[in-house]
Amino acid sequence: MIVFERLSKKFPGVKALDDVSFRVEEGEIHGLVGENGAGKSTLIKILSGIITDYEGKLFIDGREMSFTAAHQAQNQGVATIFQELTVIRDLSVAENIFLGREPVRMGGVVDTNFMREKSREVLQYLGSTVNPGEIVGRLSIANQQIVEICKALVLNAKIIVMDEPTSSLTEHEVKQLVTFIRRLKERGLTILYVSHKMEEVFHICDTISVLRDGKFIGSVNKEESTPDEVIRMMVGRSMEAMFPPRERHIGEKLLEVRSLSRKGEFEDVSFSLYEGEIVGFAGLIGAGRTELAKTLIGAARPGAGEIRIGKRVFRGFSHPHEAYQAGIAYLPEDRKGEGLVACLTVRENIALSILRRISSYLWVKPQAELSVVDGFIKNLRIKVYHHDQVAETLSGGNQQKVVISKLLATQTDIFIFDEPTRGIDVGAKYEIYRIMNDLTKEGKGIIFISSELPEILGISDRIYCMRAGQLIKEFTHEEASPEKIMHVLTGGNII
Ligand SMILES: Nc1ncnc2c1ncn2[C@@H]1O[C@H](COP(=O)(O)OP(=O)(O)OP(=O)(O)O)[C@@H](O)[C@H]1O
Ligand SMILES: [Mg+2]
Repeated sequence: MIVFERLSKKFPGVKALDDVSFRVEEGEIHGLVGENGAGKSTLIKILSGIITDYEGKLFIDGREMSFTAAHQAQNQGVATIFQELTVIRDLSVAENIFLGREPVRMGGVVDTNFMREKSREVLQYLGSTVNPGEIVGRLSIANQQIVEICKALVLNAKIIVMDEPTSSLTEHEVKQLVTFIRRLKERGLTILYVSHKMEEVFHICDTISVLRDGKFIGSVNKEESTPDEVIRMMVGRSMEAMFPPRERHIGEKLLEVRSLSRKGEFEDVSFSLYEGEIVGFAGLIGAGRTELAKTLIGAARPGAGEIRIGKRVFRGFSHPHEAYQAGIAYLPEDRKGEGLVACLTVRENIALSILRRISSYLWVKPQAELSVVDGFIKNLRIKVYHHDQVAETLSGGNQQKVVISKLLATQTDIFIFDEPTRGIDVGAKYEIYRIMNDLTKEGKGIIFISSELPEILGISDRIYCMRAGQLIKEFTHEEASPEKIMHVLTGGNII
């Protein structure tokens, strides 16, 4: 059993945790939810020995813990799987599982056979078919996560903590992970599970605890509560609708892609986008959507085909700047890697992308900059105590909002949003949909890539389905349904 007793943690300008007390029973799957910046990751960092200076007490199985380093938490059986995985891509699965604890044979040689055998056993126990000899960098994110779980199991973990484990998984992979989590529970492990996906939390967890602005709001039993109630606890108000009302004013054709191909990634893709339109791209991970987006924005060159923007015809772009000049802006899927300059402040990050707009000659106009930046902070409800806060110190979801601001601050006609709401709380999701609507009111067109069918269905005017690198079906908003789309995506006959 884990008991948090009156935990408080301050950061400059914010109380990340404010007198938080609750308990996690042994052998349960316990969900932890709350809006971006509510304090979830901070709590987890205390439990896993990463944050060591805080007020309050932490008990595990009745004993008070005061970790001064992460490995101490590990020794007490707490294994944490962070959203940014810590596997080493160049090592094999078995080497990763035994990293730092390699079994040694007589003479000091690492016992590779033992490592592989043991790894195979643990993998099989979880029902995974991953080969222990495979290099981790070649595995899917889902399988890399499984390697992390195996690592924890070999460590004899009693408590497994997962911070947003499914945010980069496909629906199928999520199902697989759920099965693993259930097996862990059967084995008597306790699981603390952070997620923004309400359906998922209700599906997996026995108990759900809610944090809001660093405060503990309550714990509910899954059987006795509803997602609506939990959302109300999270946001402190009720959310009437998941999606803002959408008016459609479709104008001229903005973009036409004809027979675009890139070997091994996608083939013969043709589609169009009109002014004022949101066009959703549905597909399973690996369907080729991100690769297609990368080609449209000049990060890769197509092997064949053309891109028409207005009257201009392009045979691909050789640089993202060229695509941007032609009118295409991109919100990358991997925001940590591509979008955010972690060591700069929120203001600098946003300003970077709009230098041209707000500078006259060589001078940046500080007033213009600030009004743009503060506008985003307010509209997207970015939780910062100051616009000069370093981006790295924002909570995960708030960092994403900064990257979204960077994209919105650029003024182009065609936007590609690749998984814009990943890791973002319900309130902010609504804001992002609203902003997408506003962009379309100004006559912009949006290509919207998402793995979450409900939002694709909720806000797209048309939906293209991609499977194995091919665009195989188009639905209008009216025609589409989750069943029809899943049928197409998973390889059913196209009706
Ligand atoms: N190292 C730090 N320096 C300053 N402030 C921090 C630091 N780490 C976290 N914070 C602040 O503490 C608050 C809680 O952050 P935390 O990361 O725990 O939120 P979270 O609930 O995990 O949010 P998300 O859902 O966005 O991941 C936020 O306001 C965040 O900006
Ligand atoms: Mg977090």
